Amino acid sequence: MVHPVISPSILSADFAMLGEEVRAIDEAGADWIHVDVMDGHFVPNITIGPGVVKALRPHSPKPFDVHLMISPIDPFLDAFAEAGADIITVHPEAGPHLHRTIQRIKGLGKKAGVSLNPATPAKVLDYVLEEIDLVLVMSVNPGFGGQKFITSQLRKIEAIANRISKESLNVTLEVDGGIDTTTARQAVNAGATALVAGTAVFRGGPNDYAANIAALRGDG
Ligand code: DX5
Ligand code: ZN
Repeated sequence: MVHPVISPSILSADFAMLGEEVRAIDEAGADWIHVDVMDGHFVPNITIGPGVVKALRPHSPKPFDVHLMISPIDPFLDAFAEAGADIITVHPEAGPHLHRTIQRIKGLGKKAGVSLNPATPAKVLDYVLEEIDLVLVMSVNPGFGGQKFITSQLRKIEAIANRISKESLNVTLEVDGGIDTTTARQAVNAGATALVAGTAVFRGGPNDYAANIAALRGDG
């Protein structure tokens, strides 16, 4: 299979030692670092803010793939950009003006991503796909790690992958939620080029991170 980018979600890391955890996944071969930002309003869980992203920044030079599950969204874009996010991904439901939000992220010199919840149709990308760098298909309902992969999302991944290739766009197609070695293969076969994984990377502790990442990538 084509080897996807692996972006471990630090949501499954030990929050008492996040800096060490970020260093450990970096050394274990993570391509990106996926940071799940939740506000207890857009999703039913609360995680971290820009202060923690800034504190983690010196722990790895790898791209910080920051997934914002917050609403409102626009007032916080500058703070995450300044904190060191490289990719900023937003949900269309999190603000009234998706196109403007994307423009703002690009204006801050960052890569822009759009994330689709399981019930959000790919159609929402119609007038923004050519403006963005990444599509993040949620294969679980956002809010928590450790949930089961929703297989109907494979059709959505396929449809978006076809569109990206037909229009020859330079857009990463990332999949997030319930990724293990089986669903990783299914997602990549459907056209995913990047995978987020929390549980499947952090299980077993630091000694297993490298093997876990390699297995997801397909070189295990
Ligand atoms: C869910 C988050 C995911 C999650 C993935 O809201 O966006 O990144 O942490 O965790 P696993 O891999 O455990 O499903
Ligand atoms: Zn995420």
